Amino acid sequence: MNKDLQSIVLTQEQIAEKVKAAAAWLDERLAGKKPLAISVLKGSVMFFCDLVRAMQTPVQIDFMTVSSYGASSESSGMPKIVMDLAASVKDRDVILVEDIVDSGYTLQRMRDLLMGRGASTFTTVTLFDKPSRRKVDIKADYSCFEIGDEFIVGYGLDYAQQYRTLPYVGILKREIYEK
Ligand code: PRP
Repeated sequence: MNKDLQSIVLTQEQIAEKVKAAAAWLDERLAGKKPLAISVLKGSVMFFCDLVRAMQTPVQIDFMTVSSYGASSESSGMPKIVMDLAASVKDRDVILVEDIVDSGYTLQRMRDLLMGRGASTFTTVTLFDKPSRRKVDIKADYSCFEIGDEFIVGYGLDYAQQYRTLPYVGILKREIYEK
């Protein structure tokens, strides 16, 4: 385990199980469709790549970089589109893939934006859900794991752009982000 972590939340094996279940859920929900799967970068990149490879449904992929935290642990409340999609979402069945839904601002912004651009359906999948932190009334259609108000990193999730490449998810020691 990385020395900056106090404990592991999801091991690589547990992540693989969650990914498999989420992929099966999407396959059932979107059977017969040709969805466009969108990764909300950077946090969802690891989960996204594993998820779309575990699906049987033929999906197209695209990416959007959205940022609202910077180096802070509180959302700015105004997610910024740093890099937009290459593809049009008009009349598409969109799957939006997130690593975590915290305040909910990012998910809300993405839903409003992509439905506003004419997506025909909008399905959201998140690896983690932190319902106790929610500021807006929104929920992912599928959430792999509900967690309390812990500061988690790894498998895409960062603290000040670090720890994203850990293959597991763990709770960051308080002294790291409070120093
Ligand atoms: C994180 C995370 C989600 C969002 C969730 O992204 O990846 O996209 O915050 O938080 P919210 O529900 O409070 O909006 P961040 O803005 O930190 O950028 P990153 O993906 O590059 O880490």
